[in-house]
Amino acid sequence: MTLKNKLGITNSFELAAAEEKISKRRALMMFESGAFDKMSAGTFSTLAEIHKTLFEDIYFFAGKIRNVNISKGGFRFASALYLNSALENIEKMPQSTFDEIIEKYVEMNVAHPFMEGNGRSMRIWLDLMLKKELHCVVDWSKVDKEEYLLAMERSPIKDTEIKLILKQALTDDVGSREIYMKGVDRSYYYEGYAAYSTEEL
Ligand SMILES: Nc1ncnc2c1ncn2[C@@H]1O[C@H](COP(=O)(O)OP(=O)(O)OP(=O)(O)O)[C@@H](O)[C@H]1O
Ligand SMILES: [Mg+2]
Repeated sequence: MTLKNKLGITNSFELAAAEEKISKRRALMMFESGAFDKMSAGTFSTLAEIHKTLFEDIYFFAGKIRNVNISKGGFRFASALYLNSALENIEKMPQSTFDEIIEKYVEMNVAHPFMEGNGRSMRIWLDLMLKKELHCVVDWSKVDKEEYLLAMERSPIKDTEIKLILKQALTDDVGSREIYMKGVDRSYYYEGYAAYSTEEL
């Protein structure tokens, strides 16, 4: 099954390739234009703006909160019915220490506000918080993708593993374009929409 898209692509692999190319170009544009300086770290509106910018040429739902329930690997993300109030609560979570920032990140992942592209938007969103509050970012090239995914799958129950993985990858090289762009890589090369199960409300 291929997500309905603005490009009219019906093949999942083709969509994944086009999506990757376009969203990476958008990610780079955000970095170079200084757009991040105008965004507030840790708010949902910032995350929505990032998502919109990355995916607006591809998906109709770019920057928009999903209205269907989704699950992945047997884990059901926040119910679409309560998503708005969940996002308000997450936005209020503190973000002044490394642990607090990761706890907020984990909760935002549990919310999974968008139909697709949550991981990539959220990694940029995380970097903005780390940069503002602690003057560091994650060097995603130092994060093993498989370990990261396992730790994220585990994070709603226990967040110690994801905290360890991200802590050892922190760098104070906050201005590096290469380090930033690594975060926009997919955590799987191809994962596709089929990885999700959705239920209509
Ligand atoms: N079973 C799970 N439980 C909790 N979180 C999960 C699970 N599976 C995946 N995730 C998280 O969801 C993210 C993927 O979400 P989504 O597909 O919406 O984003 P993406 O940007 O397309 O993908 P990616 O993060 O793989 O680049 C992963 O990066 C991971 O953090
Ligand atoms: Mg995905």
